[in-house]
Amino acid sequence: MTKAKIAVVGAGLIGFSTAVCISDSIPSCTVTVIADRFTPNTTSDVAAGMLIPHVFPGTPVHQQKQWFRETFDYLLEICNSSQASEAGIHLVSGWQIFKTVPKEETPFWSDVVLGFRSMTEKEMKKFPQHKCGQAFTTLKCDCPPYLLWLEKRLKENGGHVHVRKIEDLWELHSDYDIVVNCSGLGSQKLIRDREIYPIRGQVLKVHAPWIRHFIRDGDGLTYIYPGIHDVTLGGTRQKDNWNLSPDPNTSKGILGRCCALEPSLHTAKDVKVRVGLRPSRSAVRLQKEVLVRGSEKLHVVHNYGHSGGGFSVHQGTAQEATRLVKECIAALEMSRCKSKL
Ligand SMILES: Cc1cc2nc3c(=O)[nH]c(=O)nc-3n(C[C@H](O)[C@H](O)[C@H](O)COP(=O)(O)OP(=O)(O)OC[C@H]3O[C@@H](n4cnc5c(N)ncnc54)[C@H](O)[C@@H]3O)c2cc1C
Ligand SMILES: *[C@@H]1O[C@H](CO)[C@@H](O)[C@H](O)[C@H]1NC(C)=O
Ligand SMILES: *[C@@H]1O[C@H](CO)[C@@H](O)[C@H](O)[C@H]1NC(C)=O
Ligand SMILES: *[C@@H]1O[C@H](CO)[C@@H](O)[C@H](O)[C@H]1NC(C)=O
Ligand SMILES: *[C@@H]1O[C@H](CO)[C@@H](O)[C@H](O)[C@H]1NC(C)=O
Repeated sequence: MTKAKIAVVGAGLIGFSTAVCISDSIPSCTVTVIADRFTPNTTSDVAAGMLIPHVFPGTPVHQQKQWFRETFDYLLEICNSSQASEAGIHLVSGWQIFKTVPKEETPFWSDVVLGFRSMTEKEMKKFPQHKCGQAFTTLKCDCPPYLLWLEKRLKENGGHVHVRKIEDLWELHSDYDIVVNCSGLGSQKLIRDREIYPIRGQVLKVHAPWIRHFIRDGDGLTYIYPGIHDVTLGGTRQKDNWNLSPDPNTSKGILGRCCALEPSLHTAKDVKVRVGLRPSRSAVRLQKEVLVRGSEKLHVVHNYGHSGGGFSVHQGTAQEATRLVKECIAALEMSRCKSKL
């Protein structure tokens, strides 16, 4: 086959990481990222980008652990290279604290992060409302830098990007051999997959450069995640809420909850409010599909529904999507050979 033409719909973390993985591992193809929103306007730009797994109830734990390990080890290598600063990847240590003792003492990912251990009595003295806690070192990916770095790598591999809204994946049929659907939540009107829904998250991005340690309340609702340029304070989880406008009362609540854990945040400056809609699903949809219209066929690979944990698993799911794209290319070659006979 001449170079396979592949369109990746979506320019968030999942679209770009999938596009780069395909263009790295399948040299005999051209990859084009197509989306209506690019950095800094994606959900991925709102996220803190911490590598702390979200639990997907619809995916076996060993699979989630494998995706997390592949992602962690891949980013740890970048973090250990001269690219780390441009890619926006850094190590961060901190605490996850609990008001009630968690059911599982050690989470499934405890041996993937670095130096996982129980917090000491002395460490717990900072948090009199909390019963116990875990200390560990993990990674954080800051966006926009990480998205811009991925875009640069895609272009170095000969890939392209286009700003365009897609109403129907069939629009891409005449120009591309394979379409990879990384459209996150998609748009409200277009949602055909009834299993995907938004979970709204509001966060504050503040200037507080003295904060170096992360703190996450075990319920996942309140967190302080220091990045390279700002600190992300969260948050909210509001199911089926599509409202992208910040709510001032919610911001007050977030700041109050974070200051209760870290009083110095009272003097944080330059407070910006951001809202994102997590593309929520019980499991990531990672699947091949052949759409059929009359005698025409369109090969699609789905990779969406990363919910509140896209950063933690994106490299693992990009590798899986790349395997599926390779299978589509093999199927296309087979059918072209047959039609020649
Ligand atoms: C407040 C908040 C905090 C978070 N914190 C973390 C965290 O610390 N760690 C973690 O792992 N995860 C976190 N997440 C989750 C993470 O942000 C998501 O899992 C991830 O960003 C999803 O990436 P995505 O590329 O699928 O979606 P998006 O970033 O939303 O990208 C979707 C892309 O698809 C395009 N698109 C959609 N429909 C169309 C269409 N019809 N035509 C053309 N283009 C289209 C959009 O324009 C966009 O480019 C957080 C999320 C939120 C909201
Ligand atoms: C992001 O959105 C703003 C406001 O809608 C717009 O002005 C800007 O051009 C967008 N940026 C990109 C890269 O699309
Ligand atoms: C970190 O970098 C050093 C020097 O390049 C290398 O020898 C080592 O294997 C790297 N470790 C990891 C985990 O990438
Ligand atoms: C592409 O993904 C979106 C979610 O972003 C989903 O709603 C839609 O059904 C998918 N498209 C097709 C043709 O399956
Ligand atoms: C403001 O937020 C608090 C929680 O932080 C909530 O209890 C209260 O009901 C909210 N008030 C309004 C007017 O929304």
